[in-house]
Amino acid sequence: MPEIHVVRKDNRHLYEPYFDPYFRWRHEIYVKQRKWMALDRPDGREIDQFDTEDAVYLFCIDNGQLIGAMRALPTLLPTLMSDIFPYLNIRGPIRRSDVYELSRIFVIPERRGEHAGPRVEMLLLTAIMEYGISVGLTGFTIVLESWWLPRFERCGWKAHPLGLPQMIDGMSVLAVLVDCDDTTWKSLCSQIGLTRPTLTWRGLAGLNRLALPDISLPPPAFAQPAQ
Ligand code: COA
Repeated sequence: MPEIHVVRKDNRHLYEPYFDPYFRWRHEIYVKQRKWMALDRPDGREIDQFDTEDAVYLFCIDNGQLIGAMRALPTLLPTLMSDIFPYLNIRGPIRRSDVYELSRIFVIPERRGEHAGPRVEMLLLTAIMEYGISVGLTGFTIVLESWWLPRFERCGWKAHPLGLPQMIDGMSVLAVLVDCDDTTWKSLCSQIGLTRPTLTWRGLAGLNRLALPDISLPPPAFAQPAQ
């Protein structure tokens, strides 16, 4: 199964070889395929002002190859929602130490829609909940296209709209706050058949982490005699 690695400023040096492919994949997917031309850069890497040392990345790695990723930004610092799309949040930007903003979730094209094991996208959605619980987060803000909402609903992510959807460059986009809690994580783990935490914290032994709830499978229920 692919591994999901936590990459932060403290262990980024261990993942340097992955950053060039990572930014190139972002360019390939967001600029070339999705045509988000505002993100175009002549060097073929999609890097923005939020890729600072405070960004946290989840890298999904399979056999040494980066096959998916997600970015989390502290909302106490500038985010997409606070600096680019403030009008999507009618109550004003959320700036809280226990809330991070998620962005740039992607799976490389040849690993999308897989059915042989947990979908890489589901692994990422599960892994970011595990990350949040481990470091004491209670929520994630996201600026997203509205087609995500039924997907979140299906997998059990609880997304609360922060404003009305707006049309931006032909896309229906809105801001949401998603709960980060034990129940959601446990439900995701059970949906994709995980019986233990999935994150790899290489080089992060010094990071204080909170205990995760038990997700080991319950013992099989004995069949009840027919009444
Ligand atoms: N617009 C509308 N719906 C979309 C979509 C888009 N741009 N991209 C994915 N979907 C939805 C569709 O419902 C699709 O169903 P379909 O098969 O009937 O078209 C479903 O997602 C499955 O998507 P798929 O790409 O086959 O596989 P996946 O579930 O493994 O991966 C993503 C989903 C979003 C991770 C993957 O499509 C991806 O990496 N996309 C590019 C990056 C991106 O746009 N990220 C979101 C913004 S940060």
